[in-house]
Amino acid sequence: MFEGEEPPAHLGYSTDRVKELGFTSKVGSTLQLVTPEGPVVVLTGGGQREEVDTAQVRDAVAVFARAVPKQTHLALALPALDLDDDGVASAALEGAALARYVYRIGEDGPEAKLDQFVVVADSARHEAVRTGLDRGEVLVRATKLARDLAGTPGGILTATRIGEVAEDVGAKTGLEVEIFVEDQLVEMGCGGLLGVNLGSVEPPVMVKLVYRPEGEPTGRLTLVGKGIMYDAGGLALKPGDEVHATMKNDMTGAAAILAAMTALRELGCTAQVTGYLMCTDNMPDATALKMGDIIVMRGGKTVEVINTDAEGRLVMADALVLATEEPVDAIVDIATLTGACLRTFGTEIAGIIGNNAGVLDQVRAAADRVDEPVWELPLARRYRRELKSEIADLRNMGGINAGSITAALFLEEFVGDVPWAHIDIAGTAQSPSAEKWPNKGTTGFGTRLLIDLALNFRA
Ligand code: BES
Ligand code: ZN
Ligand code: MN
Repeated sequence: MFEGEEPPAHLGYSTDRVKELGFTSKVGSTLQLVTPEGPVVVLTGGGQREEVDTAQVRDAVAVFARAVPKQTHLALALPALDLDDDGVASAALEGAALARYVYRIGEDGPEAKLDQFVVVADSARHEAVRTGLDRGEVLVRATKLARDLAGTPGGILTATRIGEVAEDVGAKTGLEVEIFVEDQLVEMGCGGLLGVNLGSVEPPVMVKLVYRPEGEPTGRLTLVGKGIMYDAGGLALKPGDEVHATMKNDMTGAAAILAAMTALRELGCTAQVTGYLMCTDNMPDATALKMGDIIVMRGGKTVEVINTDAEGRLVMADALVLATEEPVDAIVDIATLTGACLRTFGTEIAGIIGNNAGVLDQVRAAADRVDEPVWELPLARRYRRELKSEIADLRNMGGINAGSITAALFLEEFVGDVPWAHIDIAGTAQSPSAEKWPNKGTTGFGTRLLIDLALNFRA
Protein backbone atom coordinates (compact mmCIF):
# COMPACT_ATOMS: atom_id res chain seq x y z
CA MET A 1 0.00 0.00 0.00
CA PHE A 2 1.36 3.37 -1.04
CA GLU A 3 1.02 6.68 0.73
CA GLY A 4 -2.27 8.47 0.04
CA GLU A 5 -3.88 5.29 -1.34
CA GLU A 6 -6.49 2.97 0.05
CA PRO A 7 -6.12 -0.60 1.25
CA PRO A 8 -7.29 -3.21 -1.30
CA ALA A 9 -11.10 -3.24 -1.12
CA HIS A 10 -11.42 -7.02 -0.65
CA LEU A 11 -9.65 -6.75 2.71
CA GLY A 12 -12.57 -4.79 4.11
CA TYR A 13 -10.44 -2.25 5.95
CA SER A 14 -10.80 1.49 5.46
CA THR A 15 -7.87 3.90 5.20
CA ASP A 16 -8.86 5.44 8.54
CA ARG A 17 -9.03 2.06 10.19
CA VAL A 18 -5.52 0.97 9.15
CA LYS A 19 -4.18 4.38 10.22
CA GLU A 20 -5.87 3.92 13.57
CA LEU A 21 -4.09 0.57 13.87
CA GLY A 22 -0.76 2.33 13.43
CA PHE A 23 -0.09 1.72 9.74
CA THR A 24 1.57 4.62 7.87
CA SER A 25 2.17 3.33 4.29
CA LYS A 26 5.84 4.30 4.62
CA VAL A 27 8.57 1.76 3.87
CA GLY A 28 9.16 0.05 7.20
CA SER A 29 5.51 0.07 8.23
CA THR A 30 3.53 -3.17 8.25
CA LEU A 31 0.17 -4.23 9.61
CA GLN A 32 -0.86 -7.82 10.19
CA LEU A 33 -4.48 -8.61 9.49
CA VAL A 34 -5.21 -11.94 11.08
CA THR A 35 -8.37 -13.88 10.37
CA PRO A 36 -9.49 -17.06 12.18
CA GLU A 37 -8.60 -19.10 9.11
CA GLY A 38 -6.56 -18.66 5.97
CA PRO A 39 -3.34 -16.78 5.48
CA VAL A 40 -2.01 -13.91 7.53
CA VAL A 41 -2.37 -10.79 5.43
CA VAL A 42 0.40 -8.25 5.83
CA LEU A 43 -0.27 -4.77 4.64
CA THR A 44 3.18 -3.49 3.68
CA GLY A 45 4.11 0.16 3.29
CA GLY A 46 5.52 1.08 -0.12
CA GLY A 47 6.17 4.81 0.41
CA GLN A 48 5.34 7.28 -2.36
CA ARG A 49 4.25 5.43 -5.49
CA GLU A 50 5.96 7.95 -7.82
CA GLU A 51 9.26 7.65 -5.97
CA VAL A 52 9.42 3.88 -5.83
CA ASP A 53 12.58 2.31 -7.20
CA THR A 54 13.87 -1.24 -6.96
CA ALA A 55 15.80 -0.39 -3.76
CA GLN A 56 12.54 0.62 -2.11
CA VAL A 57 10.87 -2.58 -3.30
CA ARG A 58 13.74 -4.69 -1.91
CA ASP A 59 13.56 -2.96 1.47
CA ALA A 60 9.75 -3.01 1.70
CA VAL A 61 9.66 -6.73 0.99
CA ALA A 62 12.47 -7.33 3.50
CA VAL A 63 10.36 -5.58 6.12
CA PHE A 64 7.36 -7.71 5.13
CA ALA A 65 9.38 -10.92 5.43
CA ARG A 66 10.67 -9.90 8.86
CA ALA A 67 7.17 -8.98 10.08
CA VAL A 68 5.98 -12.60 9.92
CA PRO A 69 9.04 -14.66 10.88
CA LYS A 70 7.04 -17.85 11.54
CA GLN A 71 5.53 -17.97 8.05
CA THR A 72 7.67 -19.98 5.63
CA HIS A 73 5.42 -19.51 2.60
CA LEU A 74 5.15 -15.92 1.46
CA ALA A 75 3.23 -14.42 -1.42
CA LEU A 76 3.48 -10.90 -2.75
CA ALA A 77 0.79 -9.11 -4.71
CA LEU A 78 3.09 -7.23 -7.04
CA PRO A 79 1.87 -3.68 -7.54
CA ALA A 80 1.97 -2.21 -11.04
CA LEU A 81 4.80 0.29 -10.99
CA ASP A 82 6.52 2.48 -13.53
CA LEU A 83 9.46 0.10 -13.44
CA ASP A 84 10.49 -3.04 -15.31
CA ASP A 85 8.70 -6.00 -13.79
CA ASP A 86 11.82 -8.17 -13.97
CA GLY A 87 13.84 -5.74 -11.87
CA VAL A 88 10.98 -5.39 -9.40
CA ALA A 89 10.49 -9.15 -9.08
CA SER A 90 14.21 -9.74 -8.59
CA ALA A 91 14.43 -7.02 -5.93
CA ALA A 92 11.36 -8.44 -4.16
CA LEU A 93 12.86 -11.92 -3.99
CA GLU A 94 16.22 -10.51 -2.86
CA GLY A 95 14.49 -8.55 -0.08
CA ALA A 96 12.50 -11.55 1.15
CA ALA A 97 15.31 -14.11 0.96
CA LEU A 98 18.06 -11.90 2.36
CA ALA A 99 15.83 -10.77 5.25
CA ARG A 100 15.18 -14.42 6.08
CA TYR A 101 18.84 -15.42 5.94
CA VAL A 102 20.21 -17.10 9.04
CA TYR A 103 23.80 -18.13 9.48
CA ARG A 104 24.00 -21.84 10.08
CA ILE A 105 26.95 -24.12 10.56
CA GLY A 106 26.62 -27.85 10.01
CA GLU A 107 23.36 -29.67 9.44
CA ASP A 108 21.73 -28.96 12.79
CA GLY A 109 21.38 -25.20 12.51
CA PRO A 110 18.06 -23.40 12.29
CA GLU A 111 15.73 -24.56 9.53
CA ALA A 112 15.67 -22.70 6.23
CA LYS A 113 13.34 -19.88 6.92
CA LEU A 114 11.75 -19.29 3.53
CA ASP A 115 10.37 -22.29 1.69
CA GLN A 116 8.32 -20.56 -0.94
CA PHE A 117 8.01 -17.10 -2.41
CA VAL A 118 5.10 -16.54 -4.76
CA VAL A 119 4.62 -13.43 -6.83
CA VAL A 120 1.08 -12.65 -7.89
CA ALA A 121 0.72 -10.55 -11.03
CA ASP A 122 -1.61 -10.61 -14.05
CA SER A 123 -0.62 -12.93 -16.86
CA ALA A 124 0.71 -10.19 -19.17
CA ARG A 125 3.47 -9.65 -16.62
CA HIS A 126 4.34 -13.29 -15.99
CA GLU A 127 7.24 -13.60 -18.38
CA ALA A 128 9.06 -10.55 -17.04
CA VAL A 129 8.37 -11.58 -13.46
CA ARG A 130 9.70 -15.08 -14.13
CA THR A 131 12.88 -13.65 -15.68
CA GLY A 132 13.37 -11.41 -12.66
CA LEU A 133 12.79 -14.21 -10.17
CA ASP A 134 15.31 -16.41 -11.97
CA ARG A 135 17.92 -13.65 -11.77
CA GLY A 136 16.98 -12.88 -8.17
CA GLU A 137 17.52 -16.50 -7.23
CA VAL A 138 21.08 -16.39 -8.55
CA LEU A 139 21.80 -13.11 -6.75
CA VAL A 140 20.39 -14.46 -3.50
CA ARG A 141 22.36 -17.69 -3.72
CA ALA A 142 25.57 -15.72 -4.29
CA THR A 143 24.94 -13.24 -1.48
CA LYS A 144 24.13 -16.05 0.93
CA LEU A 145 27.39 -17.76 0.03
CA ALA A 146 29.30 -14.57 0.84
CA ARG A 147 27.42 -14.20 4.14
CA ASP A 148 28.07 -17.82 5.04
CA LEU A 149 31.79 -17.53 4.32
CA ALA A 150 32.16 -14.23 6.17
CA GLY A 151 30.25 -15.58 9.15
CA THR A 152 32.25 -18.77 9.50
CA PRO A 153 34.80 -18.56 12.32
CA GLY A 154 38.44 -18.32 11.37
CA GLY A 155 39.20 -21.57 13.13
CA ILE A 156 36.92 -23.41 10.72
CA LEU A 157 37.23 -21.48 7.49
CA THR A 158 41.00 -21.47 7.05
CA ALA A 159 42.81 -20.27 3.95
CA THR A 160 43.19 -23.88 2.82
CA ARG A 161 39.49 -24.50 3.34
CA ILE A 162 38.33 -21.46 1.36
CA GLY A 163 40.54 -22.76 -1.44
CA GLU A 164 38.61 -26.04 -1.35
CA VAL A 165 35.31 -24.19 -1.32
CA ALA A 166 36.45 -22.17 -4.34
CA GLU A 167 37.39 -25.35 -6.22
CA ASP A 168 34.03 -26.86 -5.41
CA VAL A 169 31.75 -23.93 -6.29
CA GLY A 170 34.01 -22.92 -9.17
CA ALA A 171 33.66 -26.35 -10.78
CA LYS A 172 29.88 -26.14 -10.43
CA THR A 173 29.58 -22.67 -11.92
CA GLY A 174 31.97 -22.78 -14.86
CA LEU A 175 35.06 -21.07 -13.47
CA GLU A 176 38.71 -21.99 -13.82
CA VAL A 177 40.15 -22.30 -10.34
CA GLU A 178 43.86 -22.35 -9.55
CA ILE A 179 45.18 -22.71 -6.01
CA PHE A 180 48.63 -21.35 -5.18
CA VAL A 181 50.23 -22.69 -2.01
CA GLU A 182 53.27 -21.57 -0.07
CA ASP A 183 56.02 -22.99 -2.33
CA GLN A 184 54.47 -21.41 -5.39
CA LEU A 185 53.98 -18.11 -3.60
CA VAL A 186 57.67 -18.14 -2.65
CA GLU A 187 58.54 -18.89 -6.28
CA MET A 188 56.36 -15.98 -7.40
CA GLY A 189 57.82 -13.57 -4.85
CA CYS A 190 54.53 -12.80 -3.12
CA GLY A 191 56.21 -11.32 -0.05
CA GLY A 192 53.12 -9.49 1.13
CA LEU A 193 50.96 -12.57 1.55
CA LEU A 194 53.89 -14.64 2.84
CA GLY A 195 54.94 -11.92 5.27
CA VAL A 196 51.50 -11.60 6.85
CA ASN A 197 51.34 -15.38 7.06
CA LEU A 198 54.61 -15.72 9.00
CA GLY A 199 52.93 -15.81 12.41
CA SER A 200 50.33 -18.38 11.39
CA VAL A 201 50.33 -22.16 11.70
CA GLU A 202 47.83 -22.22 8.82
CA PRO A 203 49.47 -22.02 5.39
CA PRO A 204 48.60 -19.14 3.04
CA VAL A 205 46.58 -19.67 -0.11
CA MET A 206 46.11 -17.52 -3.17
CA VAL A 207 43.07 -18.48 -5.22
CA LYS A 208 42.92 -17.41 -8.84
CA LEU A 209 39.52 -17.63 -10.51
CA VAL A 210 38.90 -17.04 -14.20
CA TYR A 211 35.56 -16.63 -15.89
CA ARG A 212 35.74 -16.85 -19.67
CA PRO A 213 32.63 -15.86 -21.63
CA GLU A 214 31.46 -17.90 -24.61
CA GLY A 215 32.63 -15.57 -27.37
CA GLU A 216 35.35 -12.96 -27.63
CA PRO A 217 35.29 -11.08 -24.31
CA THR A 218 33.80 -7.58 -24.40
CA GLY A 219 36.30 -6.45 -21.77
CA ARG A 220 38.73 -7.72 -19.15
CA LEU A 221 38.13 -7.01 -15.49
CA THR A 222 40.31 -8.24 -12.61
CA LEU A 223 39.03 -8.35 -9.04
CA VAL A 224 41.33 -8.50 -6.02
CA GLY A 225 39.97 -9.46 -2.60
CA LYS A 226 41.33 -9.26 0.93
CA GLY A 227 41.10 -12.70 2.47
CA ILE A 228 42.25 -12.35 6.05
CA MET A 229 40.57 -15.37 7.58
CA TYR A 230 41.06 -13.86 11.03
CA ASP A 231 42.75 -10.58 11.81
CA ALA A 232 44.32 -10.75 15.28
CA GLY A 233 46.52 -7.77 14.36
CA GLY A 234 49.71 -9.84 14.25
CA LEU A 235 52.26 -8.71 16.85
CA ALA A 236 50.29 -5.45 17.04
CA LEU A 237 47.68 -7.58 18.77
CA LYS A 238 44.17 -6.19 18.80
CA PRO A 239 42.46 -5.77 22.20
CA GLY A 240 39.87 -8.31 23.36
CA ASP A 241 36.76 -6.21 22.88
CA GLU A 242 33.71 -7.46 21.07
CA VAL A 243 34.35 -5.65 17.79
CA HIS A 244 37.34 -7.85 17.29
CA ALA A 245 35.28 -11.00 17.43
CA THR A 246 33.97 -9.82 14.04
CA MET A 247 37.49 -10.02 12.59
CA LYS A 248 36.62 -13.45 11.23
CA ASN A 249 34.86 -11.42 8.54
CA ASP A 250 38.13 -9.82 7.41
CA MET A 251 37.84 -11.96 4.28
CA THR A 252 34.53 -10.46 3.15
CA GLY A 253 36.21 -8.93 0.10
CA ALA A 254 37.49 -12.32 -1.03
CA ALA A 255 34.12 -13.90 -0.22
CA ALA A 256 32.24 -11.29 -2.25
CA ILE A 257 34.46 -11.95 -5.27
CA LEU A 258 34.11 -15.73 -5.06
CA ALA A 259 30.36 -15.43 -4.56
CA ALA A 260 29.92 -12.89 -7.37
CA MET A 261 31.90 -14.97 -9.82
CA THR A 262 29.64 -17.99 -9.23
CA ALA A 263 26.82 -15.97 -10.82
CA LEU A 264 28.52 -14.82 -14.00
CA ARG A 265 27.86 -17.76 -16.31
CA GLU A 266 24.22 -18.11 -15.38
CA LEU A 267 23.67 -14.41 -15.89
CA GLY A 268 25.47 -14.40 -19.26
CA CYS A 269 28.37 -12.08 -18.46
CA THR A 270 30.21 -11.15 -21.68
CA ALA A 271 33.36 -9.76 -20.05
CA GLN A 272 36.30 -11.89 -18.97
CA VAL A 273 36.65 -11.69 -15.20
CA THR A 274 39.66 -12.76 -13.16
CA GLY A 275 39.59 -12.93 -9.39
CA TYR A 276 42.45 -13.11 -6.90
CA LEU A 277 41.62 -14.11 -3.32
CA MET A 278 44.54 -13.40 -0.97
CA CYS A 279 44.03 -15.69 1.97
CA THR A 280 45.80 -16.11 5.31
CA ASP A 281 45.14 -15.18 8.89
CA ASN A 282 47.12 -12.48 10.68
CA MET A 283 48.47 -13.97 13.90
CA PRO A 284 51.11 -13.18 16.52
CA ASP A 285 53.77 -15.83 17.11
CA ALA A 286 57.50 -16.24 17.59
CA THR A 287 57.81 -16.46 13.82
CA ALA A 288 55.50 -13.52 13.09
CA LEU A 289 56.33 -10.49 11.02
CA LYS A 290 57.90 -7.86 13.29
CA MET A 291 57.37 -4.14 13.42
CA GLY A 292 60.30 -2.71 11.46
CA ASP A 293 60.73 -5.74 9.24
CA ILE A 294 61.18 -5.18 5.55
CA ILE A 295 59.39 -7.37 3.04
CA VAL A 296 59.75 -7.62 -0.72
CA MET A 297 56.52 -7.64 -2.63
CA ARG A 298 55.70 -9.24 -5.99
CA GLY A 299 57.45 -7.05 -8.56
CA GLY A 300 60.31 -6.12 -6.21
CA LYS A 301 59.05 -3.11 -4.24
CA THR A 302 60.22 -3.13 -0.60
CA VAL A 303 57.95 -2.27 2.31
CA GLU A 304 58.88 -1.36 5.86
CA VAL A 305 56.27 -2.82 8.17
CA ILE A 306 55.43 -0.13 10.73
CA ASN A 307 52.30 -1.86 11.99
CA THR A 308 51.49 -5.54 11.52
CA ASP A 309 47.79 -4.70 11.85
CA ALA A 310 47.92 -2.85 8.53
CA GLU A 311 48.10 -6.29 6.86
CA GLY A 312 45.32 -6.07 4.29
CA ARG A 313 47.23 -3.76 2.01
CA LEU A 314 50.24 -6.10 2.16
CA VAL A 315 48.37 -9.17 0.93
CA MET A 316 46.49 -7.13 -1.67
CA ALA A 317 49.65 -5.61 -3.14
CA ASP A 318 50.98 -8.91 -4.53
CA ALA A 319 47.71 -9.60 -6.34
CA LEU A 320 47.47 -6.07 -7.71
CA VAL A 321 50.91 -6.56 -9.27
CA LEU A 322 49.91 -9.97 -10.65
CA ALA A 323 46.78 -8.38 -12.12
CA THR A 324 48.84 -5.80 -14.00
CA GLU A 325 51.02 -8.52 -15.53
CA GLU A 326 48.16 -9.84 -17.69
CA PRO A 327 46.02 -8.07 -20.30
CA VAL A 328 43.46 -6.12 -18.26
CA ASP A 329 41.16 -3.15 -18.82
CA ALA A 330 40.46 -2.38 -15.17
CA ILE A 331 41.25 -3.61 -11.68
CA VAL A 332 38.74 -3.36 -8.85
CA ASP A 333 39.78 -4.37 -5.37
CA ILE A 334 37.52 -4.93 -2.40
CA ALA A 335 38.63 -5.16 1.22
CA THR A 336 37.65 -4.64 4.85
CA LEU A 337 40.66 -2.39 4.86
CA THR A 338 40.43 0.42 7.42
CA GLY A 339 38.68 1.16 10.69
CA ALA A 340 38.84 4.77 9.47
CA CYS A 341 36.33 3.92 6.73
CA LEU A 342 33.90 2.56 9.31
CA ARG A 343 34.32 5.78 11.31
CA THR A 344 33.83 7.96 8.23
CA PHE A 345 30.85 6.32 6.55
CA GLY A 346 29.32 4.10 9.24
CA THR A 347 27.92 0.68 8.48
CA GLU A 348 25.70 1.48 5.48
CA ILE A 349 28.07 3.14 3.01
CA ALA A 350 31.33 1.82 1.58
CA GLY A 351 34.23 4.05 0.57
CA ILE A 352 35.56 4.05 -2.98
CA ILE A 353 38.82 5.55 -4.19
CA GLY A 354 40.59 5.15 -7.50
CA ASN A 355 42.88 6.51 -10.18
CA ASN A 356 40.34 6.56 -13.01
CA ALA A 357 37.00 8.36 -13.25
CA GLY A 358 35.58 5.85 -15.75
CA VAL A 359 36.06 2.85 -13.49
CA LEU A 360 34.81 4.76 -10.45
CA ASP A 361 31.71 5.76 -12.44
CA GLN A 362 31.06 2.12 -13.32
CA VAL A 363 31.44 1.06 -9.69
CA ARG A 364 29.12 3.85 -8.56
CA ALA A 365 26.52 3.00 -11.19
CA ALA A 366 26.55 -0.68 -10.18
CA ALA A 367 26.32 0.27 -6.50
CA ASP A 368 23.30 2.49 -7.22
CA ARG A 369 21.52 -0.18 -9.23
CA VAL A 370 21.85 -2.85 -6.54
CA ASP A 371 21.54 -0.48 -3.55
CA GLU A 372 24.94 -1.22 -2.05
CA PRO A 373 25.78 2.43 -1.39
CA VAL A 374 29.28 3.79 -1.99
CA TRP A 375 30.81 7.24 -1.63
CA GLU A 376 34.06 8.45 -3.12
CA LEU A 377 37.05 9.67 -1.12
CA PRO A 378 39.89 11.56 -2.83
CA LEU A 379 43.09 9.82 -3.84
CA ALA A 380 44.92 12.77 -2.28
CA ARG A 381 48.49 12.40 -3.46
CA ARG A 382 49.52 15.27 -1.20
CA TYR A 383 49.48 12.68 1.59
CA ARG A 384 51.71 10.23 -0.28
CA ARG A 385 54.67 11.60 1.74
CA GLU A 386 53.24 9.87 4.83
CA LEU A 387 54.12 6.52 3.26
CA LYS A 388 57.78 7.44 2.75
CA SER A 389 60.31 5.16 4.41
CA GLU A 390 63.96 5.94 4.99
CA ILE A 391 65.04 2.37 4.38
CA ALA A 392 62.48 0.89 1.97
CA ASP A 393 60.37 2.01 -0.99
CA LEU A 394 57.45 2.71 1.30
CA ARG A 395 56.02 2.01 4.74
CA ASN A 396 52.73 0.25 5.33
CA MET A 397 51.06 2.96 7.39
CA GLY A 398 50.54 6.72 7.19
CA GLY A 399 49.82 9.05 10.09
CA ILE A 400 46.79 8.90 12.37
CA ASN A 401 44.61 10.95 10.03
CA ALA A 402 42.96 10.09 6.69
CA GLY A 403 43.66 6.40 7.20
CA SER A 404 41.39 5.24 4.38
CA ILE A 405 43.10 7.58 1.94
CA THR A 406 46.67 6.63 2.88
CA ALA A 407 45.70 2.95 2.68
CA ALA A 408 44.45 3.52 -0.87
CA LEU A 409 47.61 5.49 -1.71
CA PHE A 410 49.57 2.42 -0.62
CA LEU A 411 47.55 0.17 -2.94
CA GLU A 412 47.95 2.63 -5.81
CA GLU A 413 51.69 2.02 -5.75
CA PHE A 414 51.05 -1.50 -7.06
CA VAL A 415 48.58 -0.95 -9.92
CA GLY A 416 50.93 0.87 -12.30
CA ASP A 417 48.87 2.83 -14.80
CA VAL A 418 45.98 0.37 -15.01
CA PRO A 419 42.55 1.98 -14.40
CA TRP A 420 41.72 0.99 -10.84
CA ALA A 421 39.09 1.42 -8.16
CA HIS A 422 39.29 0.33 -4.53
CA ILE A 423 36.20 -0.48 -2.41
CA ASP A 424 36.66 -0.28 1.37
CA ILE A 425 33.92 -2.37 3.01
CA ALA A 426 35.25 -2.26 6.60
CA GLY A 427 31.98 -0.61 7.67
CA THR A 428 29.47 -2.42 5.50
CA ALA A 429 30.66 -6.03 5.85
CA GLN A 430 28.79 -6.32 9.12
CA SER A 431 25.49 -4.80 10.20
CA PRO A 432 24.74 -4.12 13.88
CA SER A 433 21.01 -4.62 13.27
CA ALA A 434 18.51 -5.59 10.58
CA GLU A 435 18.32 -2.51 8.35
CA LYS A 436 16.86 -2.61 4.85
CA TRP A 437 18.20 -5.70 3.00
CA PRO A 438 21.05 -6.44 5.45
CA ASN A 439 20.34 -8.54 8.50
CA LYS A 440 22.17 -8.27 11.79
CA GLY A 441 25.58 -9.84 11.16
CA THR A 442 27.42 -10.45 7.93
CA THR A 443 25.88 -8.67 4.95
CA GLY A 444 27.68 -10.11 1.94
CA PHE A 445 28.08 -6.46 0.83
CA GLY A 446 29.82 -6.21 -2.50
CA THR A 447 28.50 -9.44 -3.98
CA ARG A 448 25.61 -7.97 -5.94
CA LEU A 449 27.66 -4.86 -6.72
CA LEU A 450 30.44 -6.92 -8.32
CA ILE A 451 27.97 -9.04 -10.26
CA ASP A 452 26.28 -5.94 -11.66
CA LEU A 453 29.66 -4.34 -12.38
CA ALA A 454 30.84 -7.39 -14.32
CA LEU A 455 27.58 -7.71 -16.27
CA ASN A 456 27.73 -4.06 -17.36
CA PHE A 457 31.50 -3.74 -17.65
CA ARG A 458 32.87 -1.64 -20.49
CA ALA A 459 36.59 -1.44 -21.21
N1 BES B 1 40.70 -5.39 9.27
C1 BES B 1 41.13 -4.16 9.80
C2 BES B 1 40.19 -3.02 9.46
C3 BES B 1 38.88 -2.99 10.21
C4 BES B 1 38.80 -2.37 11.45
C5 BES B 1 37.73 -3.53 9.67
C6 BES B 1 37.60 -2.33 12.14
C7 BES B 1 36.53 -3.48 10.34
C8 BES B 1 36.46 -2.88 11.57
C9 BES B 1 42.51 -3.79 9.25
O1 BES B 1 43.35 -4.85 8.97
C10 BES B 1 43.18 -2.97 10.28
O2 BES B 1 43.49 -3.49 11.32
N2 BES B 1 43.44 -1.72 9.95
C11 BES B 1 44.08 -0.81 10.84
C12 BES B 1 45.12 -0.06 10.05
C13 BES B 1 46.04 0.77 10.89
C14 BES B 1 46.90 -0.12 11.77
C15 BES B 1 46.90 1.61 9.97
C16 BES B 1 43.01 0.14 11.38
O3 BES B 1 42.13 0.52 10.63
O4 BES B 1 43.08 0.46 12.56
ZN1 ZN C 1 42.45 -6.63 8.55
MN1 MN D 1 44.49 -5.46 10.66
